[in-house]
Amino acid sequence: MSGQQIKLTDEQQRMLDGTAGEVAQRLMRLLVRLGQVYGADRMVQISSAQISGVSYKSIGDPGLEFLEDVACKGVRVQVQTTLNPAGMDLEDWRSLGFPADFAERQQRIIAAFESMGVVPTATCTPYLAGNRPGRGDHIAWAESSAVSFANSVLGAYTNREGGPSALAAAVCGCTPLHGLHLLENRRPTIRIAVEVELGSRADFGALGIHVGRLVRDGIPYFTGLRAHVDQLKALGAAMAASGAVALYHVEGLTPEADQHEVDTVPTLTVTREEIDEAYRRLNTGGRPDLVCLGCPHASLDEIAEVADRLQGRRVSTPLWVCTSRAVRNSAAELGLVEVIEQAGGRVVADTCMVVAPMERMGVGTTAVDSGKAAHYLPGMCQQQVVFSDWNTLLEEVLS
Ligand code: F3S
Repeated sequence: MSGQQIKLTDEQQRMLDGTAGEVAQRLMRLLVRLGQVYGADRMVQISSAQISGVSYKSIGDPGLEFLEDVACKGVRVQVQTTLNPAGMDLEDWRSLGFPADFAERQQRIIAAFESMGVVPTATCTPYLAGNRPGRGDHIAWAESSAVSFANSVLGAYTNREGGPSALAAAVCGCTPLHGLHLLENRRPTIRIAVEVELGSRADFGALGIHVGRLVRDGIPYFTGLRAHVDQLKALGAAMAASGAVALYHVEGLTPEADQHEVDTVPTLTVTREEIDEAYRRLNTGGRPDLVCLGCPHASLDEIAEVADRLQGRRVSTPLWVCTSRAVRNSAAELGLVEVIEQAGGRVVADTCMVVAPMERMGVGTTAVDSGKAAHYLPGMCQQQVVFSDWNTLLEEVLS
């Protein structure tokens, strides 16, 4: 392949010619090909990458063999690169009941990434774990909820990458300039008038599931929405799950909202009945075997909320609060992990209820307050789902 339709820098051309090795050449070819498919005329330098396809449950032996093959050829990433959640807590997997054969393969996947210079953050909230791009930064991220947060809340520029294209961008330091890397493609395509008062993160998850189904890969512009940052995290994750929303705007809230004209785009109205219907559709289970919070991975504020609720109480059903290792460490320093664990819960790092092999761990019904998790658990983990706000879920299992 010549790559003649895409203007490359000298360094990019050298990679394409194979000067940086066979793996870098293959990965640069992939980026050039993607650029040709999407009509890019050049590459753009990126400041960070975030790679998905980390859990052994997701990529299996073929993925593990591919990564070990790439790693043993000495390839290194050129920019700050972080990882999506793994299939288990990388430190406490034994006490949490993860199968040993799964753990052995998962550790090999992490080792392969580490040998390429990737930071094994193992989180879908890299922006809470040291990889936080600024407004206008070009990045190549793959985790759909993180893509949504980076584009919408932080104002960074990224397309929704796949695992291979994010790895290619990390190694080559660039990505094709197309899609959401261009301001003209970041305009709203539909206005969503929210005519219902929302409270909990679950409400925002239900709204996201409903809107994602309606707009698919559109760019919603919300009006009538008041939200704090953790609620936006839940909203974006859900829209990216039921649809393919990679960017949204919220009037008066998100950084690019006031740059766009919305008078000419169509409007959809969301009512209480539609939110209630989203709740009904997501609820498929009865009594939970596990209550699992932290999708996307919990922030320090969210962990503090849970600790506050559990102080001096006991849970009668297993409880996981999923988060990144970085946030767990901060929570431990503040004594929050101890409070949750004294109540019988676990603060689980590096993984989540969807990418962990729950179906092999004796869990048949999972209770969540995340629209995204409720959407994926039936298909990806053969789970029945209880979907409600975290306060209600905890009240039902607290003694
Ligand atoms: Fe993150 Fe897992 Fe949810 S990857 S967004 S906690 S499904």
